[in-house]
Amino acid sequence: MNLAALLLLPSGHIAAAPSLPPVVPKPVSMHVGTGRGFTVSRNTLLVDENGTTASALLQSLLKRGAGFTLKTAKHGNTRGAISLIKAPKGALRQGEYKLHSGSDGIRIWFGDKGGAVYAVQTLRQLLPQAIEGPKPSTTTKWSVPAIEITDYPRFSWRGMHLDVSRHFFQPSFIEKYLDYISMMKMNVFHWHLVDDGGWRIEIEKYPKLTSVGAWRYGITTGWDQSKLSYGAEAGAKYGGFYTKAQVREIVKYAADRDINVVPEIEMPGHTMPVLAAYPDLMCQNQPASAVSGQPSSNVYCVGNEKTFGFIQDVLDEVMEMFPSKWIHIGGDEVDKSYWHRCSLCQEKMKAEGLKNEESLQSYFVKRIDKYLASKGRRLMGWDEILEGGLAPGATVMSWRGIDGGIAAAKSGHDVVMSPTSHCYFDFAYSGQSTEHVYTFDPVPAALNATQAKHVLGGQANVWTEWIPTEARAEFMIWPRMGAMAETLWSPKAGRDTGEFMGRVSSLFGRLDRLGSSYFLPAPQVAMSAILFKGKAKVEAIQDKQMPGKLHYSIDGTVPTLKSPLYTKPVTVTKAASIRFAYLTPSGKPGDIAQVDCLPAHTEKVANVQNGWKAAYYEGSWTAVPNFAKLKPVISGFMNRIGFDIRHHDENFALDLNGYFKAPKDGVYHFEISSDDGSILKVGGATVINHDGSHGGTMKDGNVWLPKGWHKIEIGYYQGSGAYSLSLAVKVPGTSKIAKADSFVYSHGPGRD
Ligand code: ACM
Ligand code: ZN
Repeated sequence: MNLAALLLLPSGHIAAAPSLPPVVPKPVSMHVGTGRGFTVSRNTLLVDENGTTASALLQSLLKRGAGFTLKTAKHGNTRGAISLIKAPKGALRQGEYKLHSGSDGIRIWFGDKGGAVYAVQTLRQLLPQAIEGPKPSTTTKWSVPAIEITDYPRFSWRGMHLDVSRHFFQPSFIEKYLDYISMMKMNVFHWHLVDDGGWRIEIEKYPKLTSVGAWRYGITTGWDQSKLSYGAEAGAKYGGFYTKAQVREIVKYAADRDINVVPEIEMPGHTMPVLAAYPDLMCQNQPASAVSGQPSSNVYCVGNEKTFGFIQDVLDEVMEMFPSKWIHIGGDEVDKSYWHRCSLCQEKMKAEGLKNEESLQSYFVKRIDKYLASKGRRLMGWDEILEGGLAPGATVMSWRGIDGGIAAAKSGHDVVMSPTSHCYFDFAYSGQSTEHVYTFDPVPAALNATQAKHVLGGQANVWTEWIPTEARAEFMIWPRMGAMAETLWSPKAGRDTGEFMGRVSSLFGRLDRLGSSYFLPAPQVAMSAILFKGKAKVEAIQDKQMPGKLHYSIDGTVPTLKSPLYTKPVTVTKAASIRFAYLTPSGKPGDIAQVDCLPAHTEKVANVQNGWKAAYYEGSWTAVPNFAKLKPVISGFMNRIGFDIRHHDENFALDLNGYFKAPKDGVYHFEISSDDGSILKVGGATVINHDGSHGGTMKDGNVWLPKGWHKIEIGYYQGSGAYSLSLAVKVPGTSKIAKADSFVYSHGPGRD
C-alpha cells in the first residue's frame, strides 16, 4: 500500500476505540482497529528501501528484548512484513510519520530521518514491555494491536539539557540519556560541558583545559541517599572529561536517533576551570581569592585580546566536533564586578564607547556571534545576553522566567523557552511535580502569531550540583521528562492531567526493565520521630497507587529488595532509625522517610527563662553544618526566633538550643519554615529534616513525647538571597498551631 492509498483508507473498518494503548508523548491521532493486530516473529521480514538508522534502532530493540533480529530486504512484499516506506517529497511535515498495523503487516511512512525514528519509538511502546529486556524473553508474543496513527511534533526544539560540569557523567551514561531522549521523541541534547565545576571536553590546542581544568579537589556536593542529606564533603580528586573520539561517537549515536547535540561552552562567566588552567585570561586588579587554591575570578577578561584568540581557537575545535547549527555560549550570571575593577576592561570600554559593564558583555557576545556566523553557525545564549543589547544573530534560551523569551521573540529573534517555573528538573518534585510540568506551554499569550513562530520550542534542564550519580539523575528526570516531551510534541488541545498521569505510569515497567530509576515519593509516616517508653510502634502508610513496593530497614541503611516488606507497624524496643522507601521492581529506592526512635528521657531543668540559646556562624554552606566542629562568631540569648544576632545577610548559620516543655504525654506536631535549610531535633531525634538550598517553604513532622522537659535544637543556614526561619507547634489536646517560642526555655544571657 502506498501513502496515497493509506490516506484514502476506508474509515469503516477503523473504530475510535475507547481504550488506546498508552503511548507517551500522545500521538496526534490514533485509531484502534477492530481486527487482529500483527504478531512480530523471528520470521518477519523488515523491508527498508532506504537503509534507515530507524531500522537499526528497531533491530537493536528486538535483539535485546526478543533475542532475535529480523531479516531485512530493500524491496519485497510488504504483506506480513514491517515496512519502512519513504513518503513522496513534501507529502509529510517535518518529523511526521504514519503507522498502520493490521494482520497484514506493519507499514510505516516517513518523510525524514526523524519521522522514521519516531515511528519506531511508537512501535516500541505498542510492543509488550518485555521488549525492553533486560534479557531476551522467550515466552512473550510480540503482538502489536491493530492501529492507525498519524503523528508529528508541535515544536522543532524538544530539548533535554545535562550539566556534566558539576558532576561528571561517563560516556556510557550520555548514550543512555540519549536513549531516553529518543524514547520520548525529543530531538535536542544540550550538553553543558563547561562550568565552574570543571571543563569537560578535550581541546588539543589547550591541553591544560583538561589536565588542570577537568579536576577538582576537596569540595564535592551532592545528595547522599545514605545520609539523607545534601552536603559538601571533603572529596578526593574528582572529575573527568570526554576525549574527541568519545565526543564524535556520542554525536553520531545522537544523529542516528535524529538528536542534535548542542554543545554549551560557557563564557564569559562560569569559567573557573579555564582561569585555573590559563590565569592570563583573568582580569587585572582583583582581590585575592576567597577560597585557597581557586582562581579569584570565574569571568574572562574582555579587555584582553588574548581572550578572543583563545575562545576562537576553542570554538574552532568545538565546531569541528559538533555539526550543530547552534553553539550555546552560556552568558548567564556574569559577575561584572571583575570588569569594573579591571584596568584592561575599563580601557576597552572607553575605546569602544561602552557606557557600562552590561554594554561590555553585549560587546563580547556580539563579537562571538559574528565569529560563529562567519563559520555558518548560530549563537545561542541564556537570556542575560539581552542585557546591553542583543547580538544580531543570537537565539535566546529563556530561563529566568519567560520575559526574556518574549522580548527576544518580539524583536524577531528565535527563542527556546526553559523557565525555572516548569523546566528545572534539578528542583525537588515537591516544588515541581510531574503534574505541574505537564501544564507547561512554551508559547506565551503575550505573543501574536507571527512572534510566536520564533518560539522554537522548550527544554528541561538538569543542573547537577546535587545530582552526583546516574541513578539520581534518572530519578530527577523520570517521569517529568514524559510530561515535558508531551507538552512539546502533542497538540495543546484536549490535555487532561489525570489521563496523562495514568498513561505516563505505563513507562515505569519499561524503565524498570531498562534498569532506570524514577521518582517515587517518600512513604508517608504517622510519626517522624518517636521518644518511647518501653516500646514504639512505627507506622507507615502504604499507598496502593504507588508502582513500587514499600520496604523498610531498621539499621539506618537504605532499604533494598532484601529488606523486609512493610505489612504492619514495626515494633521497636531500643534506639533505632527506621527507614521506609518504595522500591522499583529492580530495587531502586525512591525518597526515604526516616523515623528516629529513642527511649524517652526527660531532662532535669532549673533556672531557665523563656527563650533560645543562640550561636551565630559565618561561612558558605549548602547544608546545615556540623556545629560541633565550628567556632561561633558570637553567642547569645534570644526571646524568640530571629536574626538580630547576625552580622550579614548571606552565608551564615544559626544553632538554636533550649528545652521544650511538653505539657502532657502525646503527639506533638511541628512545622518549620525556612529559607534556606533547617533541621529540627527534639530529645536528640530528628523530627524534621528540611535541609538544603531552597526558598521559603514549610515542612512538618510529628513526634510522640512524654510530659516534661526535652532538649530542642534548630540548625539553620542561609546561603544567598532571601532568608527566613520560623517554628510552630500544635500540642496534644489543642486544635491550634502556635509559635513554638513560648514552649522553649534556656539559661539566660551570660549563662551556659
Ligand atoms: C541557569 O540556570 N543559570 C541558566
Ligand atoms: Zn578585564
